[in-house]
Amino acid sequence: MKGALFDLDGIIADTAVYHFEAWRNLIKKHFNAEIPDSLEEKTKGVSREDSLRVILDYLNITVSENEFAALAAEKNTAYVEALDGLSRKDILPGIEQLIADFKAHHVKLALASASKNGPIILEKLGLSADFDAIADPSKVAAGKPAPDIFLAAAAAIDLSPEFCVGLEDSVAGVTAINDAGAVSIAAGGKELDHAHQRFDSTADFTYAAIEAAWEKYHH
Ligand code: BG6
Ligand code: MG
Repeated sequence: MKGALFDLDGIIADTAVYHFEAWRNLIKKHFNAEIPDSLEEKTKGVSREDSLRVILDYLNITVSENEFAALAAEKNTAYVEALDGLSRKDILPGIEQLIADFKAHHVKLALASASKNGPIILEKLGLSADFDAIADPSKVAAGKPAPDIFLAAAAAIDLSPEFCVGLEDSVAGVTAINDAGAVSIAAGGKELDHAHQRFDSTADFTYAAIEAAWEKYHH
């Protein structure tokens, strides 16, 4: 195990709730419509534009290209505002220790997030210096569940994905890790059972457990 490819929202920081809240408020304001909880999983790990498409399709709402772009931009402004007070305290349980243990074992760290806000979030969390690379989601051809962002993250730390673990909390993200050829480690419920190794929470992400999973499942 030489590299760890990290998802961000829902793995490093508890920001997934802010994403969905921003979508909810936006849709309420513009269309006076509610989005059901069941759409949250479908927007997890999925790019800003793809998330908006999922939501509008569900509600059978059609908008012009300009309106679509304006809605995506407004959601992001609200989301970034919600991140205002984000700091080290928002790092999810187990993650700071895991990062320290990876570094102690010379495992390189790369961010493989769909979020264009990745760099500013790592900065607010005080984690920028710990990461060897941040894969740029605007430079990959296809978003999660396609493997591209995990392939780009592994390449950015000069590793073949088979030497890496990928850490995810979304259905789309686990599929992306598997298809990239890395060992997938998930935090969440049974919807993530396609992961090589699933834990209920990031609090279970110990270095020993993750290394054991890599030993068992890598090829
Ligand atoms: C992912 C989130 O990490 O980033 C998704 O799980 C989000 O919910 C996606 O849509 C894109 O984020 P951003 O910050 O570029 O709008
Ligand atoms: Mg996530």
